[in-house]
Amino acid sequence: MENQERSMGCGQVPKEFVGKKIQLAGWVHRRRDHGGVIFIDLRDRTGIVQLICNPDFTAAICMEQAHSIRSEFVIFVHGSVVKRGDEAINKKIPTGSIEVYVEKLEILATCKALPFQLDEADKVDEELRLKHRYLDLRRPEMHQKIKMRHDVLFEMRQFFNAENFYEIETPILSKSTPEGARDFLVPSRLAPEHFYALPQSPQVYKQLLMASGMDRYFQIARCFRDEDLRANRQPEFTQLDIEMSFVSEDHVQKMSEQLMRRLWKKFLSVDLPETFEKHRYDDVFKKYGSDKPDMRFDMPIHEATSLFADTTLMFLKKTIDKGGKIGALLVKNRSFARSELDGWVNFVTKSLGAQGLLYIRFHEDGTPDSPVSKFLPADFFSQAQKIYKDLTVKDTLFLVAGEYQSAWSILGKIRLEMGKKFELIDTSAWNIFWITHFPMFEWDEENKRWQAMHHPFTAPEKEWKEKEPGKVYARAYDLVCNGEELGGGSIRIFDAETQSDVFEVLGMDKAMVQDKFGFLLEAQQFGFPPHGGVAFGVDRLIMLFANTDSIREVIAFPKNQRGICPLMDTPSSVDEAQLKDLHIKIVSKDKK
Ligand code: AMO
Repeated sequence: MENQERSMGCGQVPKEFVGKKIQLAGWVHRRRDHGGVIFIDLRDRTGIVQLICNPDFTAAICMEQAHSIRSEFVIFVHGSVVKRGDEAINKKIPTGSIEVYVEKLEILATCKALPFQLDEADKVDEELRLKHRYLDLRRPEMHQKIKMRHDVLFEMRQFFNAENFYEIETPILSKSTPEGARDFLVPSRLAPEHFYALPQSPQVYKQLLMASGMDRYFQIARCFRDEDLRANRQPEFTQLDIEMSFVSEDHVQKMSEQLMRRLWKKFLSVDLPETFEKHRYDDVFKKYGSDKPDMRFDMPIHEATSLFADTTLMFLKKTIDKGGKIGALLVKNRSFARSELDGWVNFVTKSLGAQGLLYIRFHEDGTPDSPVSKFLPADFFSQAQKIYKDLTVKDTLFLVAGEYQSAWSILGKIRLEMGKKFELIDTSAWNIFWITHFPMFEWDEENKRWQAMHHPFTAPEKEWKEKEPGKVYARAYDLVCNGEELGGGSIRIFDAETQSDVFEVLGMDKAMVQDKFGFLLEAQQFGFPPHGGVAFGVDRLIMLFANTDSIREVIAFPKNQRGICPLMDTPSSVDEAQLKDLHIKIVSKDKK
């Protein structure tokens, strides 16, 4: 066939074309042989159309081809659009009222036996899908997600363009910026023994762009972090990165809220509130044991230390004596089988690595029913009612004891797991809010030093130097949606003195600061404007919009849970000559 230009996409053949000749190309979605008449569902990214090959109107040589066709062959056809009989109309597809009588047909590409049936991809191992990702991506469900990703990015660009932001690209071969993860390093050929770091985020560059007077910057930025992978984490991911000059927290948050409102409206037909709620970190952590709590269900953590003030239970007594606390979750009106309770203890000790989980049920008369019943006072129920006013004998208390931060974090995870298991979460709700007043520094027990909770360029509150590091708040904020951290940002330090002081609290000596951030301290002495910004996880946002639990579902070519791309087998070994160029010698693990 000479002219191989398509008239339109498969899913776009209009019923007004009945009687017209058209040309179509695509993949064979399904082929059925009805006594010598071949029915083909032809598919491309626009949809599906039904073709019919029949010796009455299809050239004999093309009939032969039609018989040899299998699923996922790529074909090109000439034919006429015909109205379907009323009984044959398929209301499920837009082209369901017509079909195409094929006159000529050409096979452009054949297809080997597939490693998995495309319409059964959700039943196969994800590794197999990733190994043949191009096939996996052929599925209409995946097309939808990739298209949505494109639409979201396009909408973001339109939004920022209208708000007078510049889109500016920053280097990928970069210098290490501390965002809390390990860097991916790239050895330099031209500078032996030196390395670039792939950016964990464009943080420092975007601040320098403010020093350049760019005023309003955004970037759909690729970021790289060598950290343990989870369902919502990839080693390589995309941020919507924003920075603005002469702004306060309020400006950055308002701009972000406008964008989010626009995206939610466009992609989910949901009206988010005009302004989002704000919660202080301390309050949220105390109530939910997390800095990204899912507030679509309640079940707050209560402190129950006072209930055990005179306890004879050694492990609780020891915790309290050491200044630790006891936190409790109350599960209302639910009868637990013993095995179920053991299951929760197992989950907490094995999966969360906690020392233990204590549960207390009650007999009809209010006496405690628990592995530690004999250590509890007879009036435990009425004492507990002082904390839980609505406590009844049908309820169960779950308790974790320990140092506040770690005990509450564990309770937060139990709460979330129980919320999911007991179906307490209103999955139709959109719960979006800011968390503010984060601590500026957190103590790193392992390395015995202070760490920046966000990053070291975050501005501390005023008068911070008069406080102990652990008591200083940062001018930082996170955006949380349905228990997912969507983004985070802050007002930044813009003077060299404060920046140096912060580096000092972080235990960096002058030489190290000069080596790593001398350029920034210098820039901060050349008319650096006050500024602030935020970055949102694009993949996570699309995960929410696409209603999927795995970040890999919304990335065209993701890495698996072990950071490997099974399709290209990345990472892989390289030639000896390449290593030589880079002045690198591999010392095999066994020889060390
Ligand atoms: P932060 O480190 O909080 O801030 O990152 C911003 C957002 O990026 C997303 N994110 C990730 N998504 C997928 N995989 C990952 N491994 C991953 N890590 C982070 C999250 C997160 O909220 N430079 C600062 C921003 C600023 O201060 O302006 C930064 O990178 O949704």
